[in-house]
Amino acid sequence: MGYRVVIAGATGNVGREMLNILAERQFPVDEIAVLASRKSLGTEVTFGDKTLTTQDLDTFDFAGWDMALFAVGSDATKKYAPKAAVAGCVVIDNSSLYRYDHDVPLIVPEVNPQAVHGYAKKNIIANPNCSTAQMVVALKPLHDRAKIKRVVVSTYQSVSGSGKDAIDELWDQTKAVYNPTQDVPPSVYTKQIAFNVIPHIDVFLDDGSTKEEWKMVAETKKIIDPSIKVTATCVRVPVFVGHSEAINIEFEDFLDEDEARDILREAPGIMVIDKREDGGYVTPVECVGDFATFISRIRQDSTLDNGLNLWCVSDNLRKGAALNAVQIAELLGREVLKKG
Ligand SMILES: NC(=O)c1ccc[n+]([C@@H]2O[C@H](COP(=O)([O-])OP(=O)(O)OC[C@H]3O[C@@H](n4cnc5c(N)ncnc54)[C@H](OP(=O)(O)O)[C@@H]3O)[C@@H](O)[C@H]2O)c1
Repeated sequence: MGYRVVIAGATGNVGREMLNILAERQFPVDEIAVLASRKSLGTEVTFGDKTLTTQDLDTFDFAGWDMALFAVGSDATKKYAPKAAVAGCVVIDNSSLYRYDHDVPLIVPEVNPQAVHGYAKKNIIANPNCSTAQMVVALKPLHDRAKIKRVVVSTYQSVSGSGKDAIDELWDQTKAVYNPTQDVPPSVYTKQIAFNVIPHIDVFLDDGSTKEEWKMVAETKKIIDPSIKVTATCVRVPVFVGHSEAINIEFEDFLDEDEARDILREAPGIMVIDKREDGGYVTPVECVGDFATFISRIRQDSTLDNGLNLWCVSDNLRKGAALNAVQIAELLGREVLKKG
């Protein structure tokens, strides 16, 4: 016997990727419902070799469904996730709405799988921000060995992290640069994204940082250890899929770069590609469609007693969203619901 699974936001980037990954990983599905807004009613989406027709999230009855993977943004999540949870359907949510709620576990299965048992307080589990998910997969095994004191991270985030309209904006602006008769003014972003980089993701906060930067700080503390200090600069770059991060780590204990490389090679969810030669590192286009978080450029930071630098790349629609959500569904099934 398998699970009755709902995908809310099935017409979006993350929703479609969740369907792909459920099929690829042969998640034990008995029945699946795909939901979106009323305007997408009847839109077809693919699940393995099947074609499914989307239903309206607004009128859907969650009673009798085991779990609902939500990828609809915070406003729609606020309206519909509690309905699912009250109906007894466990929500695995991709938005930021519940991530900082003390009664909702925030889970990256390679890092804090034990947190799944906290799901029952609200019947909701939160999925972290895409830039946090890949970073904590890399940090946790190093923290276990040498205790991280401080992290300085700069991100290079792809446009797919802003949804399907942002992908269109980069595509249309790129074409318009070669065909200047068309003008494609910024709409999703505040400035031109084609052939440019924008040091601004999510809203500005009072201290001058952005909400995306704050999320990396707050979520790393909740998932790994509240004592870790994080400072982040989050930048949008003209890449379709795949987030990259330059991470500087200061440890309490000395950690040699070779030992760090060995630790990361053995760590779950990580693929080390670090050859110290031309092309001996991973770039975002190479990580698209992959499950792993790729680590390259591991090296000592000679300006610190106990410091390392590394380069971390992952498919933001996968580890940053859909894959992590499906891994949480697998964890919930294995540890709690025990069907399939
Ligand atoms: N992309 C990433 O890297 C990433 C990473 C982590 C988390 N997330 C989060 O995942 C969520 C979805 O992101 P995305 O990139 O997939 O966005 P997207 O491509 O814009 O898709 C949004 C989806 O939500 C549906 N939706 C929106 N408002 C709705 C409403 N009121 N009622 C019903 N359905 C509604 C849309 O349906 P229609 O097609 O009918 O409009 C669509 O299926 C967001 O919360 C985002 O923050 C994304």
